Amino acid sequence: SQPQTWSQRFESALHPAIARFNASIGFDIELIEYDLTGSQAHANMLAHTGILSVEEGEKLIEGLEQIRQEYRRGEFNPGVEAEDVHFAVERRLTELVGDIGKKLHTARSRNDQVGTDTRLYLRDQITHIRQQLRDFQTVMLTLAEQNIETLIPGYTHLQRAQPLSLAHHLLAYVEMTQRDWERLGDVYKRVNISPLGCGALAGTTFPIDRHYSAQLLNFDKPYANSLDGVSDRDFAIEFLCAASLIMVHLSRLAEEVILWASEEFSFVTLKDSCSTGSSIMPQKKNPDVPELVRGKTGRVFGHLQALLVLMKGLPLAYNKDLQEDKEALFDSVKTVRACLEAMTILMQEGLEFRTTRLNEAVAEDFSNATDVADYLAAKGVPFREAYNLVGKVVKTSLSAGKLLKDLTLDEWQALHPAFAADIYEAIAPRQVVSARNSYGGTGFEQIKQALAAAKQRLNES
Ligand code: ARG
Repeated sequence: SQPQTWSQRFESALHPAIARFNASIGFDIELIEYDLTGSQAHANMLAHTGILSVEEGEKLIEGLEQIRQEYRRGEFNPGVEAEDVHFAVERRLTELVGDIGKKLHTARSRNDQVGTDTRLYLRDQITHIRQQLRDFQTVMLTLAEQNIETLIPGYTHLQRAQPLSLAHHLLAYVEMTQRDWERLGDVYKRVNISPLGCGALAGTTFPIDRHYSAQLLNFDKPYANSLDGVSDRDFAIEFLCAASLIMVHLSRLAEEVILWASEEFSFVTLKDSCSTGSSIMPQKKNPDVPELVRGKTGRVFGHLQALLVLMKGLPLAYNKDLQEDKEALFDSVKTVRACLEAMTILMQEGLEFRTTRLNEAVAEDFSNATDVADYLAAKGVPFREAYNLVGKVVKTSLSAGKLLKDLTLDEWQALHPAFAADIYEAIAPRQVVSARNSYGGTGFEQIKQALAAAKQRLNES
């Protein structure tokens, strides 16, 4: 096999096991298209500034394009002797275009090169994930629209609290993922800065034009400090923070779907296309999709932690430790993409809300107790007094095996003279939901406005 690119300085060859240990080609091949694009911009800049001739620049750019085609045809498969994707490309380029290929690395280091590649990769991934968030929101909005009138018990402490419109519950996830979408847009701004031309750490003696290459690659600007440019992985950590929050949101929804699908809740039925069976219990239908989403969440949190720890003790500037950022990023991107896709399919066609059962569920509990207290408070009874009175009503009703709706008007009036026949209407689940018409509340009027606002956001981007 060929000697290492840097081998002239060394007396003997690399131990084979150490060569494998050192190599990143096994995973950084994922960056190849970005490496080629970044190198083409660099070659363009070298010709533009007269560091290379225009003809040399063109040869390099064409050769790099040829490698791209080879790669896409599955014909470019560098092995461990290439060390990493950057050396692999440079080596192949020299095979293809001859000695001119050796000029590509003028005024550049792998340190600014790998930083450029990683940012180009992440830019694409962020754009893709933001689109996936939009797709998820579209599905959730459609579901919400269909379920404005469907009621669902609302919980605090996983105890029945107050009934909700199912649309309100679903729209909460649209809001969460809206923040995710915005957050990723914000991260993008700090991903979109070019380290190309920072060199190994100190800049370069050649009259390069970093603004020009940054512009070619659609970066907003070049890094202002070359040391910072090659050392910075804040952008990757920020991305992993945003990715972790996406996973938090998906995982909470996953957990709810798992609960809802249980016999105890029976709020949803899982469709065959998104559930699996048991190898021994013939009756089982398992919520594997949300369970996997909940489970995979830990990986992304782990990668965030790994990168924070990776960075905290590193002296400036490049250290080989930084090679470890890639697998964390790649696996997080794959995980988030896969989970978003699976949850979107699950919500779109993998489950059915049991609306009859849901509408009945909200009528079978004391989740209208607040409304009795509100009823009295609206008639001038101080709220705390009303609250205490209703507490007693709940206690006696519970021991009598009754719900509030089962109390007779005489019983109500014995509790407090302010109760009248309209109490029944006031505590009916539909009315209880409808009456919460404060801004952002579950009242049907509020939900219609929230739906319209969410739809408009989708249409604007
Ligand atoms: N494979 C290396 C990485 O991923 C590329 C940069 C190597 N630079 C260096 N000075 N050894 O970080």
